[in-house]
Amino acid sequence: MTGRASPHRRRLLSGSLAGFGVLLSASSLTPTLAADHSKKRGEEKEVGAVEDLMREHGVLRRALLIYIETAPKLRADPTGVDPGAITRTARLFRSFGEDYHERMLEEAHIFPALRKTKGPVAAYVDVLIAQHNRGREITDYILSVSGKGGFGSGDAEPLARVFETFVRMYQNHAAREDTIIFPAWKDALSEQQLREMGDRFEEIERRTFGKDGFEDAVKEIAQIEQILGFADLAQFTAPPPPKA
Ligand SMILES: [Fe+2]
Ligand SMILES: [Fe+2]
Repeated sequence: MTGRASPHRRRLLSGSLAGFGVLLSASSLTPTLAADHSKKRGEEKEVGAVEDLMREHGVLRRALLIYIETAPKLRADPTGVDPGAITRTARLFRSFGEDYHERMLEEAHIFPALRKTKGPVAAYVDVLIAQHNRGREITDYILSVSGKGGFGSGDAEPLARVFETFVRMYQNHAAREDTIIFPAWKDALSEQQLREMGDRFEEIERRTFGKDGFEDAVKEIAQIEQILGFADLAQFTAPPPPKA
């Protein structure tokens, strides 16, 4: 059975359509029909394994943006930062990033396949795993500090520094995965194997979260951004450069 015909291939629905309770199954469609349909309405789009991994990085990057934007606020006025919102960010990073994306997908499926290639990319794996482990230590620390019920002046500098160093590490980590690791993994698989991995990832996601983990994670990060005042994208537009 190909991945396209698999009953688990449920990401043929866009989030917006799913939100309106529209159910379409492409499992009975031939590839041609499915392609035609997606052209007509734009609602049936398959999310392959690599796109899946990269959009998960998108959620994690939004968590990193929360951390980096919070660092100067902590230094300026630690009591003004909502500890509950930081706890929610760290919990999301743990469940969606560390336990699911890193442990169940990358460490279980992607890194072992790359090690087998014995190519230059295999050399990245140990560093990537060390960074996952360091990230977990850091998330433990963030949860412990934010769980005290309020940030004091003694928390501000150490936590702000942890945010900065963690964000620096993970931005580099995810960027290497997006541009080196995932493309190498994709190259090492046949089309059929790649579809099968996409199906397996879907199964893992459903088993772990009970439904669509990605959409729930996006909703959660959006709510946290709202609480902390980071929801309006326009505030991040850079000022014009000085005159040369
Ligand atoms: Fe990773
Ligand atoms: Fe990753």
